Amino acid sequence: MTTDRNGAVVIAIDGPAASGKSSTAQAVARALGYAHLDSGALYRGLTLVALEAGQGSGRFDAAVALAEAARRGLELRPGEAGFDLHLDGRIAEDRIRSAEVTANVSEVSALAPLRDWVNSRLRQVTRGVGGVVVDGRDIGTVVFPEAALKVFLSASPRARAARRLRQRGEAADAARVEEEAARLEARDRLDASRPVAPLRAAPDAVLVDGTDLTFEDQVARIVALARGR
Ligand code: CDP
Repeated sequence: MTTDRNGAVVIAIDGPAASGKSSTAQAVARALGYAHLDSGALYRGLTLVALEAGQGSGRFDAAVALAEAARRGLELRPGEAGFDLHLDGRIAEDRIRSAEVTANVSEVSALAPLRDWVNSRLRQVTRGVGGVVVDGRDIGTVVFPEAALKVFLSASPRARAARRLRQRGEAADAARVEEEAARLEARDRLDASRPVAPLRAAPDAVLVDGTDLTFEDQVARIVALARGR
């Protein structure tokens, strides 16, 4: 199998918002004995520190966000199942999933210097790791074009919206599903239309449509693809 420059086997899982990339990547990593690396967590962390530094829509400044990230120790550290995002000396997981961070993350992640910063972190942490499953938007196209397996994981906007509502423990009635689907589609449009590293499938990616698959089937399909390489 091909490896990255640190000798790690990389499996790239890209796809639109709430396609289940992170939870799928985590389960695939567990099945293969690989580490899991969530690139979106870094973009969310940068968005959080920028917001807390008083920035907001229309006035995000990459230099300020990077200075804040350094000052507050925003970094990936090896954890139990892969890498955890640390901020202020503790795991940042809950803080980076707020509605405010989610509403602003696409704007922040369109800033080229921030993408360079994230990409260099992602490429560094694979040192000493045998295999890693990385999920995001541009992992197979930009960050690890040499990945041993590239998967583009999608599902219909309604299926993704229903999953995201359930994940948050909220009611998934028809009206709320429509509302959440519209939010997801707006974020996908921003991610797919930005000039730098837009969301798209790599030409050599395997397309997996999870609309009618159970989570277990989705994971099993990707694990089988990886074992077949
Ligand atoms: O909500 P979801 O789990 O789908 O998103 P995420 O993976 O946490 O990523 C949040 C946002 O970060 C995305 O909407 C993109 O704007 C950005 N992102 C990116 O631009 N490139 C990546 N490789 C990963 C995330």
